[in-house]
Amino acid sequence: MSPYKYSTLAVHAGQHPDPLTGAVNVPLYLSSTFELTGVGSDRGWDYSRAGNPTRDRLESALAALEGGTSGHAFTTGMAAIAALVAMLHAGDHVVCSRDVYAGTVRLFDQIVSGYGIQIEYVDTSNLAAVEAAMKPNTKLVHIETPSNPLMVLTDIAAVAKLAHARGVEVSVDNTFLSPVLQRPLELGADIVMHSTTKYLNGHSDGLGGALIGSKAEHKERFGFVQKAAGGVMSPFECFLVLRGIKTLPLRIQQHEENGRAVAEFLSTHRKVSKLAYPGLKTHSQYDLAVKQQKGFGSMMSFELKSREEASRFLKAIKIFINAESLGGVESLASHSATTTHGSVSEEVRQSMGINEGRIRLSIGIEDKEDLIADLEQALAAV
Ligand SMILES: Cc1ncc(COP(=O)(O)O)c(C=O)c1O
Repeated sequence: MSPYKYSTLAVHAGQHPDPLTGAVNVPLYLSSTFELTGVGSDRGWDYSRAGNPTRDRLESALAALEGGTSGHAFTTGMAAIAALVAMLHAGDHVVCSRDVYAGTVRLFDQIVSGYGIQIEYVDTSNLAAVEAAMKPNTKLVHIETPSNPLMVLTDIAAVAKLAHARGVEVSVDNTFLSPVLQRPLELGADIVMHSTTKYLNGHSDGLGGALIGSKAEHKERFGFVQKAAGGVMSPFECFLVLRGIKTLPLRIQQHEENGRAVAEFLSTHRKVSKLAYPGLKTHSQYDLAVKQQKGFGSMMSFELKSREEASRFLKAIKIFINAESLGGVESLASHSATTTHGSVSEEVRQSMGINEGRIRLSIGIEDKEDLIADLEQALAAV
């Protein structure tokens, strides 16, 4: 447990001055290989796939921010999820949140299940459904909370209790809130996953993913997958995420303030329906959000009446940018059915409750009045 408060941790965890030169910023070690000090001996690094000094710093920062024992940085969020399931075996069973990022479903259904690993999608906001899905061969429960794009919450502590009683590990995709607003390991989860592409890097200029473990065996397991499968984050991307992390608490404060203001505005707009944002007192999972989160974040989605209305809205926005992704300083709007959930069949999308008029917003750190004015004029064009 760190003696420091969170903002101090964000600036300093893993970011101490370089022992060689005193450089205040973590140097970018662009070296694929390292001189060995003898036969079978080195200075801590031998080859950058196995370990790189810049990556080491990011990995310790990530572990500190999530309160874990080890951090592991990968090329993308998807590479991190692939590493999460890489050590499972044919015959193993995984319970996964039904309303999960569609890229996770694509990886699980089109690659991982081909290895004989059974993936079962469950509404993890329903504890009875999670319990019913557990089998003797269940090895992992993977949850995403809040989910994408419907912002459905799963009670992390309750799922962890249920899974641990059966010797099953729980991993949480914490991308939507960042460790500033939700720390799954403190709630009882075993592993945290991030797409660092989003809030952790925060500037929409790099791709990355991370796993944070809570046990010695995670350090060994994920370190081995990094070395064996090789999907590690490049030193330059590590440098960017380290830089992003320094302002993470500050950025999240502004994201959060803007998110609440935009959600309040949308909640009263007559053209907007089914606003999904757990920070509103009227949201059915508001109490759970207050219990397990330290804030509500700046992700939300809502429905317009049709694909045509969504298209008109996206053409009319001026500050918001019609683009996929989230968690950057700039506000983005996207059409869920053709972007994040474009690889999911219409039938499945409908069953998930994602209709053709659903728009997802990632609220940035611009001035909230400008953002609301932009949404107001775009909705007027619908
Ligand atoms: C919740 C969530 N998890 C994982 C990912 C995958 O991350 P990446 O795009 O960095 O591979 C995304 C990407 O949008 C995401 O939104």
